[in-house]
Amino acid sequence: MVTPCCVIQGRTSLRGDIAISGSKNAALPILAATLLTDQPCVLHNVPELTDVANMLEALRLLGAEVISVGPRSWSICAKDVHTDARNPVVQHLRASVCLLGALLGRKRSASVAMPGGCKLGARPIDLHLRAFHRLGAQVHQPTGYVSLQTDYLTGTVLSMLGPRGPSMTGTSNAVMAAVLAKGTTVIRHASREPEIASLCRMLNQMGARITGLNSGTLIVKGVPFLHGTSFTVPPDRIEAGTFIILGYLRGTPVRVHGLTPQFLTENFQGFFDAIPSARRHSFFHDGAFEVHRIEDLPGLDICTLPYPGFPTDLQPQISVLASQAISASRVRDTVFPQRFAHIPAFRRLGIQAKVEHDTLHLAPHSTLHSGEVTATDLRAGAALYLAGILADGSTTVFRPDYVDRGYEHFEEKLQKLGAELTRLS
Ligand code: UD1
Repeated sequence: MVTPCCVIQGRTSLRGDIAISGSKNAALPILAATLLTDQPCVLHNVPELTDVANMLEALRLLGAEVISVGPRSWSICAKDVHTDARNPVVQHLRASVCLLGALLGRKRSASVAMPGGCKLGARPIDLHLRAFHRLGAQVHQPTGYVSLQTDYLTGTVLSMLGPRGPSMTGTSNAVMAAVLAKGTTVIRHASREPEIASLCRMLNQMGARITGLNSGTLIVKGVPFLHGTSFTVPPDRIEAGTFIILGYLRGTPVRVHGLTPQFLTENFQGFFDAIPSARRHSFFHDGAFEVHRIEDLPGLDICTLPYPGFPTDLQPQISVLASQAISASRVRDTVFPQRFAHIPAFRRLGIQAKVEHDTLHLAPHSTLHSGEVTATDLRAGAALYLAGILADGSTTVFRPDYVDRGYEHFEEKLQKLGAELTRLS
């Protein structure tokens, strides 16, 4: 039996058109939010990912009716749902933690297995639990799951600020628990990541009263019930960023579809600020964002930060680009300071890199060569594909299932651009 892997023949130039799919990190809490009403919600542009399949299955296991109503469109009706999500499916993904807030909001009770997801260093949920407690829930954490219980939830003042900035899924949870509470909840230091605003927009369409979107302080006025709606998931900024980085590495050019100038302005400020020559090598042309290879990239000095800073979910991918710069680069991750499990694999492919505390130091002009490497998480997996496309010879990436969790048809999209790769499974 073959161990699943992807074999990549490197040094190909990439040219052509690809379309960006719906956002994973927007879709997952939005799927959880369908539990907040007994009426059907119809969601469009839901990406085809294993994380999404697992979330849909988690909703089914709770008793929701989940029906495919077209390509990437789902109708979900949570008319009769129970509150026990202690099952292995929810342990496969981080965003299953959002079931807690949605079930607590709707049913005043939830038992959810501890979430899984990528191991990016410590991923506590203390801020989530503190928010539930302040809203009035009794919180129990027996081994392996979290249990929440209350007769009613009451609006209060919350802070989602942790030691490394606001928590993203923590903010989603606080909002979902607060929308049906009595009175007003003020969420200070709310995550400003665009996916939170998408969730709030969908909830407002369902009848919620949330203001302060994108401001860092969300004000949630509780309402007695929410109704069904239809909602289209926005494009995935991390997938877009990955293909834009690929364009800077090998594009002759790569043309990225599905982004608008407004979307780029709102989502890529920190990204373009971090790559000084980016704007000269990428621009809108003929209905697509066209990305050309950067030949003489100056060394990069990147620091990941909560939105609107450079996103931690593009840290491994930008590190591959930085390894090709004409002078040394630094990549610091302040959101997940231990998010460097992929560095041994980078080194195996010839990337000269050294980790000191929360910072990766990269030598200029690394010459990448063939090798066998194993993905350690979703974004690191994508970075290894980029490295393989850049490398001289054949690179084998094991654990391609990590990439399937969060990139829709990644290998097909790369092949469409001219990459030579084969999945063995
Ligand atoms: C989400 C994203 C993930 C992204 C991350 C940071 C989803 C499904 N995942 O993860 O792709 O990399 O945001 O943008 O949307 N923290 C605490 N206590 C808590 C919660 C978090 O201290 O209760 C810390 C974490 O350890 C981390 C930082 O806060 O250092 C940010 O974590 P958080 O925003 O919560 O990440 P996730 O929501 O898990």
